[in-house]
Amino acid sequence: MLEIDYDAFDDNLLSNWSLVPYLRYGHVFGLYACNSLKGFAIFMKEWDNPRFAYLVEIAVEKESQEKGYGYYLLLQSLTHLKNNGLSSVFLTVDPNNLRARHIYCDKFGFKLAEYRNNEYGQGRDRMFLQLNLENWTPGASEHTSLEPEPSGEGFMEE
Ligand SMILES: CC(C)(COP(=O)(O)OP(=O)(O)OC[C@H]1O[C@@H](n2cnc3c(N)ncnc32)[C@H](O)[C@@H]1OP(=O)(O)O)[C@@H](O)C(=O)NCCC(=O)NCCS
Repeated sequence: MLEIDYDAFDDNLLSNWSLVPYLRYGHVFGLYACNSLKGFAIFMKEWDNPRFAYLVEIAVEKESQEKGYGYYLLLQSLTHLKNNGLSSVFLTVDPNNLRARHIYCDKFGFKLAEYRNNEYGQGRDRMFLQLNLENWTPGASEHTSLEPEPSGEGFMEE
């Protein structure tokens, strides 16, 4: 996961110290193809409202991007969260990250809840997005680019 994190973001967002508590106390989904981890999504519950989940990070290794894996990973993750009684999912995204915004907003229907100036330091704004899972139907959004699954591919909840 640390390698994918560095590869996807050209930076380390995770560390040995943050990853262990996420794995033990958060909710982590892994996407596997040909028996190797290609991407992951980390969620945690909101302290004051345990029916709210926050997407801490989603990443797909660079050479596997643009193949539909990110969409599939998010679809499976959100479906699992909805089926387990979560009512809303929140996340933040860099306004310049047009690919992520396209997936969140156009493909899943996330809505802008708040624009947060300087959220991650001077000039590092973030869009705070929300998806109401109670009104969301898995698979209702169209997507065509995911190829048929090769053997060894799958989705795993950690
Ligand atoms: C964001 C990320 C998880 C998406 O995973 P992925 O497997 O590459 O995404 P997919 O292949 O499922 O979907 C990509 C979609 O974005 C679209 N897209 C690509 N570049 C785009 C751009 N510049 N503007 C708008 N849409 C774009 C693709 O056309 C595709 O949409 P479509 O299926 O409707 O054609 C992955 O690219 C990644 O790890 N990026 C780096 C880390 C990151 O930005 N994480 C999110 C932080 S909030």
